[in-house]
Amino acid sequence: MTSAEAQGLPYLQAVIREGLRLWPPATGLGSKEVPPTGDTICGHPVPGGTQIGQNICGIMRLKNIWGEDSGVFRPERWIEANENRATVMKSTLELVFGSGKYKCLGKSIAMMELNKIFVEVSSPSWNTSWVSALIFILVASKVRYFSN
Ligand code: HEM
Repeated sequence: MTSAEAQGLPYLQAVIREGLRLWPPATGLGSKEVPPTGDTICGHPVPGGTQIGQNICGIMRLKNIWGEDSGVFRPERWIEANENRATVMKSTLELVFGSGKYKCLGKSIAMMELNKIFVEVSSPSWNTSWVSALIFILVASKVRYFSN
């Protein structure tokens, strides 16, 4: 499964987005410091030196963006959304990767991996190699245990 092929599967895309939304991998505040001269954020004056963080889990559950059922894993919300709503949802979801000059440098790789993993893990060839990998890990850990 290539990344391009995966991008042509709307339900897969919806599942990936919904997973990132409800369980963002990076949940720290990611605080940034306001410059010494101070700043204005969303109309609020903020003194220099203030640490501003974000509650990403809260943002990803805002009912005005995701709907009344924002706490539910429901990939269909991505498919049902009209163009305007989908644009707002996608740009809000982007925040799981940070923004501006601090934005995640590995986003493209992360998305490529997510696009491949579900299809590959559920394919029969992967099951065989997955079982082999598990046996290898078990055997390797036993060898380490007994050699210590
Ligand atoms: C779904 C998976 C991932 C998520 C949600 C994610 C999210 C983030 C977030 C929130 C930041 C911090 C932004 C900030 O400081 O405001 C970050 C930074 C970063 N990420 Fe990721 N990341 C993911 C995967 C990856 C991968 C796979 C790589 C590398 C291959 C990577 C490389 C980096 C690097 C290098 C930075 C630091 C960027 C900088 O400070 O200039 N990330 N990521």
